Amino acid sequence: MKENFDFLMPSVNFFGKGVIKKIGDRAKMLNMKKPLIVTGKTLSHMENGPVAQTTDSLKAAGVDYVIFDGSEPNPKVRNIQAAKKVYLDNNCDSIITVGGGSAHDCGKGLGIILTNGDDITKLAGIETLENPLPPLMAVNTTAGTASELTRHCVITNEKTKLKFVVVSWRNIPLVSFNDPMLELDIPKGLTAATGMDTFVQSIEPYVSTNRNELTDGQCIEAIKLVEESLREAVANGHNVEARTKMVEAEMLGGMAFNNADLGYVHAMAHQLGGQYDAPHGVCCAMLLPIVEKYNIPACPERFAELAKIMGENTDGLSVRDAADLSIKAMRQMCDDVNIPRSIKAIGAKPEDFEMMAENALKDGNAFSNPRKGTKEDIVKLFQEAYDQK
Ligand SMILES: [Fe+2]
Repeated sequence: MKENFDFLMPSVNFFGKGVIKKIGDRAKMLNMKKPLIVTGKTLSHMENGPVAQTTDSLKAAGVDYVIFDGSEPNPKVRNIQAAKKVYLDNNCDSIITVGGGSAHDCGKGLGIILTNGDDITKLAGIETLENPLPPLMAVNTTAGTASELTRHCVITNEKTKLKFVVVSWRNIPLVSFNDPMLELDIPKGLTAATGMDTFVQSIEPYVSTNRNELTDGQCIEAIKLVEESLREAVANGHNVEARTKMVEAEMLGGMAFNNADLGYVHAMAHQLGGQYDAPHGVCCAMLLPIVEKYNIPACPERFAELAKIMGENTDGLSVRDAADLSIKAMRQMCDDVNIPRSIKAIGAKPEDFEMMAENALKDGNAFSNPRKGTKEDIVKLFQEAYDQK
């Protein structure tokens, strides 16, 4: 019976100004006695930042806590092992992640090794987790990965430089908090990189082989919101309306790909991120126009629709020509938010392409890509991304 009951875990997604104030009461409702707050150094040192606002709310509700601020960008196996030591040394009973995708994935990774075996590298893949994680809530601070509400946990094995995904419904945080007011001071570069991740996460599920009508609707709305607000959010971080729309886009895209999955942009971006420790959103953005151009023959009508959703005028054009306009719009977005065009910018080396292509095809996100590629195809795509001027 116990096995059946853990399907009944609630998953609630709070969105809007001030929702962070609810976290103390939610911690009590979940019977959290001593959560470990998993975050990074920047946020833990910020005065009245997201960590301080989280702990204020916990204190007001009378909930004890411990802070672990050793989550790095592209969280590593060593980070989750360090978090586990702090968790066990302090007799914690639950986890609260505060940050962007890296903090959430670090916290999920911690939860995974606490209940599913100490070697997380053995759990890479889809629905590999047999046991529930400890109670987990996520306070999100970037309109980016949507890890605060998805099944995905991405960890880097620092020894092999391989990034791998553990995709499981058991990874979904019980409660997520998306308060746009926490995001106003994010620097331009981080806003652009994380925002482009949201853009990619709204496009890949729209052309995925696992898409459905519900996820289509979420993608369409998310793409429109990114078109309306990402440039503004990068230009002026204190534009609350733009920040709010980006958070909404992030959540919708996340809900879409949580069900419809992603594709080769993510499968290949994970290789770049793992090899060169480069920001995930930048890796995704640099690959987006190149991979989606390659994908057009698999579903040209979808790409013609995408062009319209992105605001391009497709009147009188053939489906194929309209599809090309969607690639032009993707490229324009990357340029407008200052994403470098060539993967040389993150130190990519052509001698790594074959190995990365082989691993990209094994990545948990490769299987739902609309066009099925060979290793040679993927090497060519990396080369094309390298040759961009
Ligand atoms: Fe992503």
